Parts: sequence; structure tokens; C-alpha cells
Amino acid sequence: MSSDQHFGLTGLATMGANLARNVAHHDIPVVVHNRTTSRTERFLDEHGSEGPITGQESVEQWVGALARPRVLMSMVQAGPATDAVINEIAPRLDRGDVLIDGGNANFRDTQRRHAKLAEQGIHFLGVGVSGGEEGALNGPSIMPGGDREPYDESVKEIFEAIAANVDGTPCCTYVGPDGAGHYVKMVHNGIEYADMQLIAETYDLLRHGVGLEVPEIAERFESWNGSELESFLIEITARVLAKTDEATGKPLVDVILDAAEQKGTGRWTAENALELGVPLTGITEAVFARTLSALKSEREHAAGLLAGPSGNRPHDESLTGDLEHALYASKIVSYAQGFAQMAAAARDEKWDIDLGSMATIWRGGCIIRARFLDRIREAYETEPTLPNLMLADFFAKALEQAQDPWRRVVARAAELGVPTPAFSSSLAYYDGYRRARGPASLIQGLRDLFGAHTYKRVDRDGTFHVMWGENGREIEA
Ligand code: 6PG
Repeated sequence: MSSDQHFGLTGLATMGANLARNVAHHDIPVVVHNRTTSRTERFLDEHGSEGPITGQESVEQWVGALARPRVLMSMVQAGPATDAVINEIAPRLDRGDVLIDGGNANFRDTQRRHAKLAEQGIHFLGVGVSGGEEGALNGPSIMPGGDREPYDESVKEIFEAIAANVDGTPCCTYVGPDGAGHYVKMVHNGIEYADMQLIAETYDLLRHGVGLEVPEIAERFESWNGSELESFLIEITARVLAKTDEATGKPLVDVILDAAEQKGTGRWTAENALELGVPLTGITEAVFARTLSALKSEREHAAGLLAGPSGNRPHDESLTGDLEHALYASKIVSYAQGFAQMAAAARDEKWDIDLGSMATIWRGGCIIRARFLDRIREAYETEPTLPNLMLADFFAKALEQAQDPWRRVVARAAELGVPTPAFSSSLAYYDGYRRARGPASLIQGLRDLFGAHTYKRVDRDGTFHVMWGENGREIEA
């Protein structure tokens, strides 16, 4: 970045505004713009004195105020709004300018935009930014993807300055070409979905299995945040559960409608896992759990019609200790699945993503920041081509230690009729993955019988089929 260069940012909703302030707080001149001019004016009134910030009314003026090669960042909603902004900016840019999309874009859109803008000589960077409003202001985790050279020359210094920092290392590193940055951000969000679902299942069991009151559950999460579970999401779970609703005096969690919303990143992660053929059970169950939660009126109707477990189910205090292990083990599984998916996508797209670095930049700033990401980083440092995180020594041992309480939790939850899709599917994945021989041979046999789909044998090369409707002999197909 040259000394006369400015950073341009358009889209002054919360994330964009805070990111612009963060840039200015680092003494990097920032020129802001927003489609609605009054928002730019309000932003300048409120924050213009925090650093070298100026604003422009029109896109023309905004683009014109930036030194070349321009570095411009769009912080608008993913989807059509991003396309609209790009279509407005692009004709006013010159070859060599760098246009950055910091929204939660679908990586396929980023690839399309990258290819289109490349025809015009514009370098398009699709950048994942995580950490919510607080992170954007004080240091997010940043996942940049796109052309490496312009990133290194014009953007790296700015992003590394504004990103969170853990042990002297910025939570920002170049991820890979075209859509790689947004891809990694998508998987980050998928893991965020799984983490939250596991936390919700833990809360549900503490409340309805153990019989704890909400403030007691808050204390439990607070104490777990001092263990290997230490993470931002566990920390804020304690805060949400400790909050009392002012209007009713009830725990806030009791007056919030139990229907989870979603903007799409978790669903995209699951859809992409299906496309790639990666078993991503934890994240996918978390997406489905949200969609089931959203069927509120159907669930209310069913509650009066469908029976739960019969007999008296007393509260079971022994579950409390077991839940800590179940939560930890299931969390390991969902990260293992997410990292396996990134590895598969990197192979498929030829992105060469360094998985250890992804764990490194998620240690601070982002929503899934957690103590155990250091262990993930170490695992990939020791063995960069590790096929699955569960196989790393540290995690294999952690799973071994957690497995008995994990099994008890899943079994008890089934007996109690408390749904635990993420706990249960994570355990099933662990058990499925550690089995050298499973029951899929029967599926192959069935496929061969009803559709002559053939099968392979364990003892001979070749493809085989049984003449089921004729003499029952096996033939080589
Ligand atoms: C982040 C978050 C953020 C995301 C929200 C909401 O990393 O800062 O992932 O990007 O938009 O978490 O996502 P849903 O509305 O899909 O839950």
C-alpha cells in the first residue's frame, strides 16, 4: 500500500460502519460511501473524528476520491444487493483496481464475479469477515480469497492491521484463489451452526433431563468456559441464560420464540457437502434442527397428539458431568467434518488451502473462536495431510476419554424423549468412521438384486452380479 492510498468502503450498516472505523483507528485513511446519503452523513457526524475518515455522496465521487490502484470494499448484503453494487462500481474502475466483497457471499457467486471482473482487468477478492459487530470494530477474523498478488501488494497490510491478533499472529491469512475465502467462511458458519445446536441440546438436557433451573445452567456453562470447552459461544451462552426479561421477570430464554432463523450459510455448507460426497452430519443436522424448530405451529399441534416415552422419567443428576464430555466429543466431530470438507473442496477446486492456517486465524475474532483451535493447528502442523482430525493423537485420546459419557448421554436422551440430533449423529459418525467393516455390503447386495447395480468383492478384483431371477449364479459383469 502506498502512502497516499485510501481504503474505500461502501455499505455503512453495522458491519461496514464498524469495519470502516476499525480501519481509521489504525490511521489508514478511509473514504466511505452509502447508497442512502443520510446514513453517510450520520456516520461522519458520529464517527468522523475517530480517525482519517472522509465521505462521498455518489459512487462516482467515491471512486474518484481513491488513489490508483484503488482498493474498494463492499459491505452490503449477500446476493442481488452485492451484484447491484458491483454493477454500479465496476464500470467506473480501471485495470488493476482491487474490489473486495466482505459480505457472506455464496462462493459460487464469488467465482462468477471474479471471472467476470477479471475480463475487465479488475481484481476481485471474496473475503470472509467474522466476529459480528464487535469483531468488525475491534478485530475480526478475516479470510481473504482471490488473486494473490494484488492481495499481497495492496490489501494484506490493511487487513492484518485491523484483524484480531492472537499471540502476535494476525487472525487473517490469504486462503486461496477466487471463491476460497468465502468458501472457508461458509464452513466457519456451518461449524458455528453445529456448535450452537450442540449447546442448545446440552441446555435442553440440563433443563429437562437433569432438572436444573435456567440460572443454574448459566453457572454450569460459565464454569465449563474454564475447561477445554473454553470458547466464545460457551461464554455468551452463560450470558444469554443469565439474562432476566425485564417485562416478565422470567429468564429471557423463556420468552424468546423457539423458532431459529437462518440466512443460508449453514444450508450452503450442507448442500456443498452433499455435492462433494463428504459426510457432514453434525452441521447438516444443525440446519435441519433449525428448520424443524421453525415449524412452530405444527409442533404445537403435534405436542397434543404424539406420545412421548411412557412411565415416570425421574431427573438424572449424573447426566451433568457426562454432558461436558458429550459436548466436547461432538464438537471435535463437527470440526473434524468441517475440516474434512474444506480439504475435499480444496482438492476439487485446486485451491491448496492450508488447513492449519485456517485453525490459526479462527483462534481470535470470529464467532467459533475456541481454545481447542490451537490443538487443531498443532495437528495439521504435525501432519498436513491428516485425513481426519479425529485421527490426530490429541483428538483420538480426547474421544476415547469422552466416549463412555457421550454414549450415556445419547442413550439417556433417547429414553427421555429429548431430541439430540447433533449429539447422536456425531456419535454415529464416530462409530461409523472407526469401523473397518460396516453393513454397506448388504446395501450393495440389495441394489444388485432389485436393479442389477453390481457389486465388488473383498477377495477378488472385478465387478459382479448375481443372476437373481434366473439360476442364482454370480457372473462377472
Ligand atoms: C460471523 C457470523 C455471521 C452470520 C451470523 C448469522 O462469523 O460473524 O457467522 O457472519 O451472519 O452468525 O448467521 P445466521 O443468520 O445464518 O444464523
